[in-house]
Order: sequence, then structure tokens, then C-alpha cells
Amino acid sequence: MPGAKNISLQTYLFVNPKNFESNIFKEEKIKYILGEMKAIITGTGSYLPPRVVTNFDLEKIMNTSDEWIRQRTGIVERRYADPGIGSSDLATEAAKRAIESAGLKPADIEFIIAATLSPDHYFPGIGVLVQAKLGLAPIGALDIRNQCSGFIYGLSVADQYIRAGTFRRILLVAAEVQSSNLDYSDAGRDMAVLFGDGAGAVVVEAYDGQDRGILSTHLFADGRYVSDLWMEKPSPRDKPVFRENFIREGRYFPRMEGRSVFKNACEKMPEAVRIALAQNNLRVEDVDVLIPHQANERITQMVAKSLNVPAEKVISNIDRYGNTTAASIPIALDEACRNGKIKSGSLIILTAFGSGYTWASAVIRW
Ligand code: ACO
Repeated sequence: MPGAKNISLQTYLFVNPKNFESNIFKEEKIKYILGEMKAIITGTGSYLPPRVVTNFDLEKIMNTSDEWIRQRTGIVERRYADPGIGSSDLATEAAKRAIESAGLKPADIEFIIAATLSPDHYFPGIGVLVQAKLGLAPIGALDIRNQCSGFIYGLSVADQYIRAGTFRRILLVAAEVQSSNLDYSDAGRDMAVLFGDGAGAVVVEAYDGQDRGILSTHLFADGRYVSDLWMEKPSPRDKPVFRENFIREGRYFPRMEGRSVFKNACEKMPEAVRIALAQNNLRVEDVDVLIPHQANERITQMVAKSLNVPAEKVISNIDRYGNTTAASIPIALDEACRNGKIKSGSLIILTAFGSGYTWASAVIRW
């Protein structure tokens, strides 16, 4: 059937149930059953708001120093969105760039997955806003709430949907606007200096071949550590949800046990990568590019050292953007594609760790 490869199997069958009988469908279905279809990333995009906030700018509004921030985190500057701009706005720009780089039009997208810890609204999530802002038909839009691991969790969902034959073209976007709710007092300065705003996106498509694609994703969580890194309030457990004393106590701000986060991030990311390599019968020497979640330069260095991956294979942009949580990996991925660090055939490892705790890894043959 002409054009059959350009629409999802769901749509294909819905439009004409007789397609069940067509030879092309049978051939494709067999490939899905045999697990021969792969999910590949065909486009990447990112968008950083234009306003640059340096460590020296932060010195003017809070009790910190450029020296302290650089030494402990490697961050030099980050981007802040202007008032009125939400995660969905950044996500939409990144999504447009990813769709264009895949050589597609927004209307080609069949499903949206959006990851953020800073949605525009308490509800709904940003997936539906991205769908509306891209002017798409009423396709499904799924929101992921896995913080720094959100992009890899989303990639895993996209991979499963593609390999199951449910969708052929998925937009996965991650975006954060964190600057509007950071505590710039001494109580929150450990966190306030870390975070920045930004968005990254990829298009994941079905691929009828074995030479490239997402080889594996591994997802982990340990909810015993929820309060080590969280934004406790607002909570519907409180009646009423919003209270003066919570504001005075700074409980609507994100909080972190920095040392526990540091220790666990340095352990769990390498562990997730080792599991992924073992499952794929790969060695560390096979890795061309390692993209860890950009949490903190010292964490990135510890992860690389623990895995024995040389610095030239490790992507780091935290000096320019700070920690953009769910968006950090797709922003780094997009930059690495555009500056030629990622080439056709490269073996890429993604790994993330964050609030929950959640952590994850993915192996991709580009
Ligand atoms: N500027 C100046 N001083 C600061 C700042 C700041 N922004 N923040 C904290 N301090 C002070 C502390 O108050 C403390 O002062 P004190 O000795 O008078 O009490 C001093 O610096 C040292 O504080 P420590 O907590 O001991 O500093 P540490 O060496 O542990 O570094 C840090 C703190 C950078 C937060 C570290 O614990 C860390 O990197 N943790 C990992 C956190 C992280 O990367 N999170 C990312 C988000 S989660 C994720 O993406 C995985």
C-alpha cells in the first residue's frame, strides 16, 4: 500500500480494516513480532532562553561567590527565562528544532512525551500545551515526572511504543523553568546556584534495520530517599494547601541534602551504565560518547573516573547552562550532534540521576 510506511499501524488499521489482510502489513507485523524494528533518534533540538545569568550576577542578589560556585560545581553561567515564559514555551521551540532536524513537519508527529519538574501549571502537564502550541491534531500527549531522569524515562517509553508498532514518530521533549522558584537566601543557596532554564527535544522514529537504534534503556528508583531532593509543598495533603507559615518557613522551595545526592549520583550512574554495557555485551572501550545528566561538574568527573571513560569522550556543558534537570541530556545531545562529536555509528551512553531517587541509563548506536 503506497504511503503505508508514513503512518502509524494504529492509523493504518483504523483507516481501512482491510489492511489487516494486506501483504505489506503482514510483512511489517512479522518484523514487529520478531522484534526486528528499532527506535532511532532522527532529529535533535534545543532552546535556551537568551538571558544569561553569571555567577557574578548571583553575587549581587545572594550570599555566594563566583569562586565557591566554580570550585564546587563547575558552573560559570546559566540561562533564566523571562517572566511570562513557561516550560511549555521553551519545549515548543526545542521541539520545532528537533522536528526540523529530522526533516519532518509538526503534523508528522504521532505522539508526544514531555518531561519536566516545572510545568506551567499545577495541572495539566506541558505535553498538551506543546501539542496545542505546535498546532497538532488531537494526538496523545504523555507527561513524565521523573525529574533529572525524566528524559531517559521518556526515551524508554518512546522505545517501547515504537518497537511495539503503536507509533512510528514520537516527539520527546524535556524542559524546565526553575529560576522562578529558587530560594536565594542562605537556606537555599546550595541549590539556587545550580539550576538553570532550558529545553531539549528529540524525534524518535521506527527503523527497519539492525545497524543503529536504541539498544537498551534501564530505569531505577528508590523512593526511600524522596526527602533528600524534593519540593515538599504545595501538597494536597494539607488543608488548605497554601499557608502563610509555609511561605515564611520556605517550604515551597526545592530542598536538597547535597552530600547524599552527591554520593548517590556518583554511585548510581556508573552502576546503571555497567548494567547497560553488560546487557549489550559491550566494554567501556566501545563507548564513543558518554552524556551524563549535567548535575555538577564534579559529579560528571567522578562518574567518568569510576567508569574509566577518558575526558574527551564525556560531554559537559554545565559551565554554560548549569543544571537544567530533565532538559540537560537532550540539550547536551543536541550540541554534541551539531558540533560533530556524535557521528553516524557512534556508540552513545546516556545516564541520569535525580530526585526520587530515580536513575537510568540508555545505550544508543547512532
Ligand atoms: N555559596 C557560598 N557558600 C555556600 C553556598 C553557596 N551557593 N552553598 C552552600 N554554601 C556554604 C554552606 O552553607 C557551608 O557553610 P558552613 O561551612 O559555614 O556551614 C559551606 O558552603 C560548605 O557547605 P557543604 O554543604 O559542606 O558544601 P559541599 O562541599 O558539600 O558542597 C554542594 C555543596 C555543591 C551542594 C555539594 O554537596 C554537591 O555538589 N552536592 C550535589 C548536589 C547536586 O549536584 N545536585 C544537583 C541537583 S540533583 C541532580 O541533578 C542529581
